[in-house]
Amino acid sequence: MTSTLGVKCYFVKQLVTRPITVHPASARPRGVHLEWKRQTVERHLKGECLYCLCGGSSLGVDCLHCHHTDSKHTADMNGHKQDRKINQFGDYEDTSNMKPEDWDYRWGKSQTQFHMPKIHPMLSKHSDTLTGKRKNLRIFLPLCGKAVDMKWLADDGHDVVGLECAEKGCREFFEEQDMPYTTENLTECEGKVFKATTDKKIAIYCCDFFKISSKTLGKFDCIWDRGSFVAIPVTQRKQYSNIITPTMHKDTVYLLDSFLVDNTVFGGPPFNCTEDDIKKAFGSQTDIKKIDERDAFGKWQESWGLKTFVEELYMLKMK
Ligand SMILES: C[S@@+](CC[C@H](N)C(=O)[O-])C[C@H]1O[C@@H](n2cnc3c(N)ncnc32)[C@H](O)[C@@H]1O
Repeated sequence: MTSTLGVKCYFVKQLVTRPITVHPASARPRGVHLEWKRQTVERHLKGECLYCLCGGSSLGVDCLHCHHTDSKHTADMNGHKQDRKINQFGDYEDTSNMKPEDWDYRWGKSQTQFHMPKIHPMLSKHSDTLTGKRKNLRIFLPLCGKAVDMKWLADDGHDVVGLECAEKGCREFFEEQDMPYTTENLTECEGKVFKATTDKKIAIYCCDFFKISSKTLGKFDCIWDRGSFVAIPVTQRKQYSNIITPTMHKDTVYLLDSFLVDNTVFGGPPFNCTEDDIKKAFGSQTDIKKIDERDAFGKWQESWGLKTFVEELYMLKMK
């Protein structure tokens, strides 16, 4: 695609295929978004700055007039400059309200640094607490990504159920674990279930977590929640608990791994999660106890401008 001025149209292509790089679609009503996109494309074609209404040129990636150089500096619907916080993907897109399609986009770009190639240290340390040393349990990993924890638990004789919206994540799990699988369409909502066809009992529901219920998922003896409750938009925490708690029975052990993180500096996800936050979402139905914590601050968190990053582990049981 080229602009009227014959310059390779980087922005128009990006805006048409992926408008949220500059201004997240999820943050505004669809009609408003389309209007914003139309205006932005028009401004591009006129050679004006895309980031604000300074009237400068955006023929290169940088605005020649106001020197905006990247998406850190962007504009709201009225063209007012806004400063953005860095996110875990290393850019300044507003990721506070990510939807499945936004995660798909990140998976598509292999921006999955949250994935750990090894068993999560909190899981290996507290696996006996999770399972009570029992075998053949039904274990749920909501928002599982391609966590190797699923294979580890299945190797231990459990029936593992994951849920992940990104199809790429589901496929990569089975491919990387060298495990053949089948897929079946879901009936309750749009999506599929991937099932291992080996002796390992692993199934991954590939759908939006917020569209499924315990009717399809059934009950679980254990839940391992790593990077899940803390990854969803903060406004959806109660909705999340309303889906999780019906999958619990009176003896279910739910381990929830969370972070204390300064989201005034770093955009998230993960989003800060205190004991009070967990109580607000789950407190009416479950007893909540903190069972571990550790300093999880590393180079990645330092690159987000953080000074501290504390991981906490909570155990939840039905009241
Ligand atoms: C921070 S990652 C954690 C992944 C995994 N738990 C791990 O430990 O590697 C959050 C995952 O949740 C998935 N996700 C986010 N929102 C979702 C939704 N509404 N329904 C299903 N999956 C979702 C993302 O695609 C992503 O893989």
